Formats: sequence, structure tokens, C-alpha cells
Amino acid sequence: MTQVNEVPPGASGGDGAEPLLKVRGIDKHFGPVQALYGVNLELPAGHVTGLCGDNGAGKSVLTRCIAGVHQPDHGQIYFDGRPVHIRNARDAAALGIETVYQDLALADNLDIVQNMFLGRERLRRGMLDEDSMEREAAQTLSTLRVTTVRSIRQPVASLSGGQRQAVAVAKAVMWNSKVVLLDEPTAALGVVQTRIVLDLIERLRDHGLAVMVISHNLNDVFEVADRIAVLHLGRMVAEGPAADFDRQSVVEYMTTGSSGGRPFEPAGSVSGGG
Ligand SMILES: Nc1ncnc2c1ncn2[C@@H]1O[C@H](COP(=O)(O)OP(=O)(O)OP(=O)(O)O)[C@@H](O)[C@H]1O
Ligand SMILES: [Mg+2]
Repeated sequence: MTQVNEVPPGASGGDGAEPLLKVRGIDKHFGPVQALYGVNLELPAGHVTGLCGDNGAGKSVLTRCIAGVHQPDHGQIYFDGRPVHIRNARDAAALGIETVYQDLALADNLDIVQNMFLGRERLRRGMLDEDSMEREAAQTLSTLRVTTVRSIRQPVASLSGGQRQAVAVAKAVMWNSKVVLLDEPTAALGVVQTRIVLDLIERLRDHGLAVMVISHNLNDVFEVADRIAVLHLGRMVAEGPAADFDRQSVVEYMTTGSSGGRPFEPAGSVSGGG
């Protein structure tokens, strides 16, 4: 089985190339609540995209549309340039899209190996192949330099928040993933634990994965994201290189949908010319 999947540079989603994952014109409503309006998003390989937005902006709904939990009403998702229909979590996993949810990430009563193979246990002659699963789990954790856990046979309940999140991320990348979506991975974490997870996110990017991270903490966003996308009341109001943003403009986009009274203009577009 593959460890962290290496996407060949330039194959899909390097700078200027076709993004590995592309969302076009997604609408999603729940009864009378319109959660997403014509949302576009690009997740290039080898990049971390920070998805920002105030409470209720639609970040989690967008994530769940990509993860196959919700079906968009309209719009299209493209994977590696091909239109895809992601009907459930299994479809997403088959494409190499893995999602780390803040709360539902792991089963407390199981150990690290059991968690990492939950639902995809490896069998050998009809029995659980514990040795091979243990080896694989240990190898993945060490590839990601998750070195602070004492034993991969310790129950997840005994881990710190950061270690749990690290195991959740490792679990996501063990399955040959190419796109990792992290919904508030650091929300409940302290400084040191946040550090572990942010380092891990950078490592995923360095391995060529397309990473999307949702965070209310703009320090975290600016630290790891090289691209930023901002949702405001269900609309994507800004998307571009992190260098085109500062904290103030992100907060303005989050709270008002525009910055300096103007909608987002990608760098390179002519502005202020007269
Ligand atoms: N399953 C659902 N049923 C009905 N409405 C929903 C459902 N999921 C989300 N919504 C609504 O869709 C909108 C977007 O919610 P979403 O969870 O995506 O916000 P968010 O940007 O993730 O916010 P937060 O930062 O608080 O997590 C909200 O108005 C929310 O109430
Ligand atoms: Mg949310």
C-alpha cells in the first residue's frame, strides 16, 4: 500500500496547471436556507488553501459537498480535469479525497492502529492481519514524523488533542489520498498541539497533496496557506494567492464580502489605472 501519495510535480495543479480539484457553480440549499450560491473553488496540488468565513458562511457545507456527504443542487466538481459525481464518502475515498472533521475524527475506545484501519481492516486467511496493519500505521506516522505518540497500540482516548488530530491526518493520508480537507483541525488545540498539526499540514503540501484547511484563526491561516478563499453568506467573495491578502482584508471579506469597498481583484489585474 502506498504511503503519502506523491503527485508528480506539474502533473495536475502546479502553478498555472489545471487544479487537481475544481468546484464550479455549486448551489446548495436546505429547505428555505440557501447555504451556497454558485461557489467556485480551486485546490491545486502541492498547495494549502485556507478557507475562511464567518460562522454560517458555508465552509462546512462546501467541505461536505466535496466529501460526498451532501449532494449539490447545481454545479460541477472536477477532479484532475474530469467532471466527477461524488455521491458518498466511498466515492470521495476512491478519488483520493479524505476529510478530517474536528469532532468525529476518531473512535476513543480503539487504539491508533484500529482507528487508522477502521472500516478498511486488512485480512489474511480470514483473520485480521494485525502485524501488517501495525507496520503500515507505524510507517505512515513516521513518514509524517508523528513521533510524540508513545505506542501505536495506545487507545486514542489517552492521546492529547494535537496527537489525536495528527493521527486523524495520518489516517487520511494513509489511503493514497491526493486531496485532504481539514475542517477546523486546530480549533480545540493549545499552542504546542496546534504546532504539530500545522507542521503536518505543511508536510502534506510538500508531499504534493492538495490541502484545504478551514480555520477561524487567521494566524494559522497565514502561517500555512499559500492560497486563501473567503466565503461570505454562501458566496465565494475572494480567492487567490495568500500574498494578495493581509489580515485586515481577509476580515473585511469575511464580514462584509468586500475589501476597501471593492470586490476581490486577483493580483495582476490592472487596477487604479485611472
Ligand atoms: N444539515 C443542514 N440542514 C440545514 N441547514 C444547514 C445544514 N448544514 C448547514 N446548514 C446551514 O447552512 C449554512 C452554512 O453552514 P455551515 O455549517 O457550512 O457554516 P460554516 O461556515 O461551517 O460555519 P462555522 O464557522 O460556524 O462552522 C448555515 O446557515 C447553516 O445553518
Ligand atoms: Mg463549520
